[in-house]
Amino acid sequence: MNILSIETSCDETACAVVKNGREVLSNIIVSQIDIHKEYGGVVPEVAARSHIEVILPAIDKALKEAKIGWGSVDAIAVTTGPGLIGSLIIGVETAKTLAWSLKKPLISVNHLIGHIYANWIDRGIMDFPALCLAVSGGHTMLLEIKDYHNITKIGQTKDDAAGEAFDKVAKLLGLGYPGGPAITEIALKGDKLKFNLPRPMTSPLDKKNGNFNFSFSGLKTAVLSVTKEGIKRDEIPDLAASFQQAASDSLVTKVIWYLEKNKDIQTVMLAGGVAANTNLRETLRTDLEKLDFKGSFIYPEITYCTDNAAMIGAAAFYNQNFVDPLTLAAFPSGIDRL
Ligand code: KG4
Ligand code: ZN
Repeated sequence: MNILSIETSCDETACAVVKNGREVLSNIIVSQIDIHKEYGGVVPEVAARSHIEVILPAIDKALKEAKIGWGSVDAIAVTTGPGLIGSLIIGVETAKTLAWSLKKPLISVNHLIGHIYANWIDRGIMDFPALCLAVSGGHTMLLEIKDYHNITKIGQTKDDAAGEAFDKVAKLLGLGYPGGPAITEIALKGDKLKFNLPRPMTSPLDKKNGNFNFSFSGLKTAVLSVTKEGIKRDEIPDLAASFQQAASDSLVTKVIWYLEKNKDIQTVMLAGGVAANTNLRETLRTDLEKLDFKGSFIYPEITYCTDNAAMIGAAAFYNQNFVDPLTLAAFPSGIDRL
């Protein structure tokens, strides 16, 4: 089954062709980073206008690179939400128009589910139950995946998302946008033990109470306090590295607590833009080894961690949520349709 998928929830115009949910025949991503960089973050109206300009050429390119014509497309999939409404509408209306005029089935995909299913790309088979740490610019959640259609939320952030914290701290440190890759890079030159930053919601009492939620606003404020006290320019890599380690520790702690209590978990997976962070991957790997976790630890290739349409094609194959092209609507917020 060849699925042509479209993803325009934020600032990437993405189109892909995915065969049977795991073989990526093409993966086109037109990034708007250079456009939004000068504002230090995504400007919603500018993002929507930019999607309009590039979406049709991106679809043509996805088909061309996949070396298929419309006759070989079995279904069209699109991200319906959550995301920026103006951006989502461009993808959704394009997908509806194509599906209706070409008489192709249309599949609606939740963006967060897409991030999770990026783990199925090039892999396919998965041992359940699985535990997923989904960390992006908009979400931070710990999820138990019992099988393909049974996902339970264990915990979530009470304030900022992990990616949002990376972006805000990068801005504070004058590292530019997007913050995650900038912090990852500069942290390589820094000493992560130099600044003592908090790991919110990881106290023994939180553990006793089974608190699997996350919080990043206190960590961000702690970085702000350090900068207000005044740091030398050459200490910026140390502060970035200390922040990155505090963020990784806060996330990984909850994964480990859950595994300590739930010995049946077979697979631990990362998903979302922050899953591209090498420090997070290595911190989790080390702690899983310390725990003597015998299952598998997986994460998507970096291209499939941040926003892309291949993950939407994968999710669409495993969750064939067919919808009517005449009535489908984008939804900007909420994860009710998880
Ligand atoms: O999943 P994603 O592309 O978009 C959303 O659905 O939000 O995630 C984007 C977020 C941004 O906040 C970005 O700073 C963060 O992922 N990110 C990273 C890295 N690469 C992207 N955070 C930490 N380390 C990275 N290497
Ligand atoms: Zn995303």
